[in-house]
Amino acid sequence: MSISGTKIAPAEGKLGILIPGIGAVATTFIAGVELIKRGLGQPVGSLTQLATIRLGKRTDNRSPYIRDFVPLAKLDQLVFGGWDIYEDNAYQAASNAKVLEPHQLDVVREPLEALRPMKAVFEQQYVKRINGPNVKKAANKRELAEMLMADIQSFKQTNGCSRLAMIWCGSTEVHRKATAVHQSLGAFEEGLAKSDPEIAPSQIYAYAALKSGVPFANGAPNLTHDIPALLDLARDRGIAVCGKDFKTGQTFMKTLLAPGFKSRMLGVSGWFSTNILGNRDGEVLEDPDSFKTKEETKLSVLDQILQPQLYPQLYKDLYHSVKINYYPPRGDAKEGWDNIDIFGWLNYPMQIKIDFLCRDSILAAPIVLDLVLFLDLAQRAGLRGIQEWLSFYFKAPMTAPGLYPEHDIFIQLMKLKNRLRHLMGEELITHLGLEYYD
Ligand SMILES: NC(=O)c1ccc[n+]([C@@H]2O[C@H](COP(=O)([O-])OP(=O)(O)OC[C@H]3O[C@@H](n4cnc5c(N)ncnc54)[C@H](O)[C@@H]3O)[C@@H](O)[C@H]2O)c1
Repeated sequence: MSISGTKIAPAEGKLGILIPGIGAVATTFIAGVELIKRGLGQPVGSLTQLATIRLGKRTDNRSPYIRDFVPLAKLDQLVFGGWDIYEDNAYQAASNAKVLEPHQLDVVREPLEALRPMKAVFEQQYVKRINGPNVKKAANKRELAEMLMADIQSFKQTNGCSRLAMIWCGSTEVHRKATAVHQSLGAFEEGLAKSDPEIAPSQIYAYAALKSGVPFANGAPNLTHDIPALLDLARDRGIAVCGKDFKTGQTFMKTLLAPGFKSRMLGVSGWFSTNILGNRDGEVLEDPDSFKTKEETKLSVLDQILQPQLYPQLYKDLYHSVKINYYPPRGDAKEGWDNIDIFGWLNYPMQIKIDFLCRDSILAAPIVLDLVLFLDLAQRAGLRGIQEWLSFYFKAPMTAPGLYPEHDIFIQLMKLKNRLRHLMGEELITHLGLEYYD
């Protein structure tokens, strides 16, 4: 049931989660779900598991859990599969990633060991710092896409899934701009047959997912399904998509603080951000081309929140710099420093320093869970194309062409909750609140 007569199909049967990239984020997510299912952990950071949603007036006292309000798949309905260029099963990959403690991983060793990554679609020129043996070989990129579609079908059958969702948790690919081959589905399919070098591996996964009717999310900043060819395919086939680049760590902090400064009309003259990070993600980001992809999404956030074109006297001269340094001793436990130069009344300067001792994959895992559950909901509700209400989870939210993305996390949250209310035929909440004072 929902507004406008569309029904939401029930969340019956198993939901298969397919993940290109069985690395730190993917294994922290999967191991976490397995631990939580056994009552051995809490799903901290997940709206689908912990958040409530207010319905009606503040005086109505109706605030159910989101999970009780909308029909979401339950954790014990989830099954996991994926691809990686390394042959390590998910237990070995999680052990290497060193995010979760060995004693915790050992409890869920069995289901993790059972997840052996399928052979990946990989091209060295897109991720320069790593190379592995578990890679598909084919005459051209069309064949690779067909092999992925066969993997998807066989995973679905073998695991008896009624539905699937795919989420890219692979390494950040090098920076690319959309070219002619990305402009239409016809050009893209021709490009696959000709193995056009401009078609990235992540785009082949996205294409295979969409052709198979599987909703797709991109957790990394690379150009993937945010191209006309794949967006048209998603819309025509009625498939929900979203992206890109999980909003965790330093950018999460930025999107909390920057809207606050702007709301009080405080100026910002400089924002210097630097990180040390020692996991494989950090290693991949040492390559300047991969970092450029990341830098672009990280830098655009402040500009879009602060709107210097509307507030030149406050933000026109903002100097913004973001650095990531690979520093192995820290592993996944990164440290991010921010020095923020702000100014107030009569332009008097002030400084803010942040030192965030952060755990990237611990912040990303609940985002992966929420995204796959909400994408599956969107798909069952017949929503298609870009799901802007899921911007909440991304550093570079995808939007309709010509629309600037909404980065303010509190507006994003309101959008998300209103989307759920709208889906379920509940009144939207505008926070106007006049009714309490009549
Ligand atoms: N952890 C966070 O907070 C966070 C935030 C935003 C974005 N991300 C992005 O999420 C992605 C995953 O992060 P991570 O820390 O798990 O990295 P990771 O290096 O631990 O895992 C990525 C995995 O992807 C695999 N891979 C690379 N190319 C592949 C391909 N073509 N097909 C299949 N597998 C492939 C690698 O072998 C590796 O095992 C990265 O792109 C990262 O930038 C992470």
